[in-house]
Amino acid sequence: MSRIKLSIFLLVLMFIGFTHCKVEPVYNFQKDISVKNAAVVTAHPVASEIGLAVLREGGNAVDAAIAVQFALAVCYPVAGNIGGGGFMVYRDSLGEVSCLDFREMAPSSAHADMYLDENGEAISEMSRRGHLAAGVPGTVDGMWEAFKKYSKLKDWKRLINPSIKIARDGYKITSRQARMFNEEKENFNKYNDHTPALVKESPWKKGELLMQPQLASTLEHIANKGVDGFYQGIVADHIVNSMKANGGIITHEDLSSYTSIWRKPIQFNYEGYTIYSMPPPSSGGVALCQLFEMIEPFDLPSMGFHSSESVHLIAEAERRVYADRSKHLGDADYYPVPLAQLLDSTYIASRFNDFNPQKANRSKDIEAGIIESEETTHYSIVDQWGNAVSITTTINGGYGSKSFVNGAGFLLNNEMDDFSAKPGTPNLYGLVGAEANKIEPGKRMLSSMTPTIVTKNENLKMIVGTPGGSTIITSVFQVILNKIEYQLSLKEAVHNPRFHHQWLPDYIRLEKNALDVSTRDTLTKLGHELQVKGNIGKVEAIWIEEDGTIKAVADWRADDHASGY
Ligand code: GLY
Repeated sequence: MSRIKLSIFLLVLMFIGFTHCKVEPVYNFQKDISVKNAAVVTAHPVASEIGLAVLREGGNAVDAAIAVQFALAVCYPVAGNIGGGGFMVYRDSLGEVSCLDFREMAPSSAHADMYLDENGEAISEMSRRGHLAAGVPGTVDGMWEAFKKYSKLKDWKRLINPSIKIARDGYKITSRQARMFNEEKENFNKYNDHTPALVKESPWKKGELLMQPQLASTLEHIANKGVDGFYQGIVADHIVNSMKANGGIITHEDLSSYTSIWRKPIQFNYEGYTIYSMPPPSSGGVALCQLFEMIEPFDLPSMGFHSSESVHLIAEAERRVYADRSKHLGDADYYPVPLAQLLDSTYIASRFNDFNPQKANRSKDIEAGIIESEETTHYSIVDQWGNAVSITTTINGGYGSKSFVNGAGFLLNNEMDDFSAKPGTPNLYGLVGAEANKIEPGKRMLSSMTPTIVTKNENLKMIVGTPGGSTIITSVFQVILNKIEYQLSLKEAVHNPRFHHQWLPDYIRLEKNALDVSTRDTLTKLGHELQVKGNIGKVEAIWIEEDGTIKAVADWRADDHASGY
């Protein structure tokens, strides 16, 4: 064969190889859209499209949120759920804001020492894995409450039917999901007395269909019977039987007495914007308010974006806020959380008196003032009328307790680990807690979830939130700052690298590509320890431009997807 013929032959071979190996994405992920009427941003394209269909059909933001919540329980099992809980911040088109707490509750026989060994040491395995780690799920009750109060379509079945279909007929898993299901196979086998739908003999591959027949019939019960389809009847029987067989303690009474609670939002102003977020049992709203107030006297834009000066300032504010969180915050229905003082401007300013722009403080010297795999998922929705929903929902760690309810096909949360199992002992996210967050029957565990809505001159501006355990608060804080102080585009505000300080452990956590070398050097000289770890958060944000254009951005960090019209 002549040289020319050989070259042509090799080129043809390369072309055939290239066309055959071309990596086809399972979904066309939309990360950044600009629309006129309505938008929905979630952690999975299937859930976003289900929400969009409801919005196009004339459903409002709450209708879409309910459809999305059930869809995520099917297509995003790592954090989407019916076996967990969450928080909703809702603002209607007239400007009325309400918050719904559908956080899990400790079972009635839970007690402060339940995760301690005979020497009084916390056994983290017990609060993180298996049925004993689960709090009483609040999600279905929360969706039912939101439906009764705000639904426009008034057709509960219509909102759940798409999820029943994708559970029964299957949906295509992404490559990220295939990898995660394969990684979790050992845990799923270890913490279940049966083979759940997420386990199969051969490794999962992207694009394969995941079918969940047990979950489909659980969703059918909920579609047909409303809230009672989960907390009563056969699904409740499956939960209780599964508890009895696996050392869990949730009873029929615990399930039937679960109640979601409407709460007053935490509301504060910053530079002409009004910010609404979640009150206790989430620490999100209080912490966000303290962070913004601490940094308000400083001119951030003149310090520069991600400069050593601004990162130092923000990290020092975060250090103090997380110290307060650790001591003072818990379920205010069970512990006298000093809310008024924590939100008092003079108090917040006094917390920053010892801030030194030239030197990092040490967390061991910062006491609380005198008076959390990081999964969870967030979705942001705005409808054609301007009603806005910001919901963060969770089963805590990735795939929660790793335990499924046999017969009902859904994962149980491991939210009990968000309580302080023992004062001073870190939880999954390295967070330490105290008396305020000790385990008590019926109590709700402290959360960092920070579903947030921002307005300006009484007009809707932003809907934002993220998963990420303890990093949730600082991610929401930084994305809002990126928008309103640094005037970045929404895409830049969400996609830019993030950093995080949470008092203990005493270091600034950085994303791999965060901060240039000289900024890192200066921060180290100021006395900060820096640790580069994995990605921080998966922010889903919507921003309304002055002319009414809706910008919706899904985080690049995972399979998140923005839909709209
Ligand atoms: N489970 C994480 C949180 O609620 O903060």
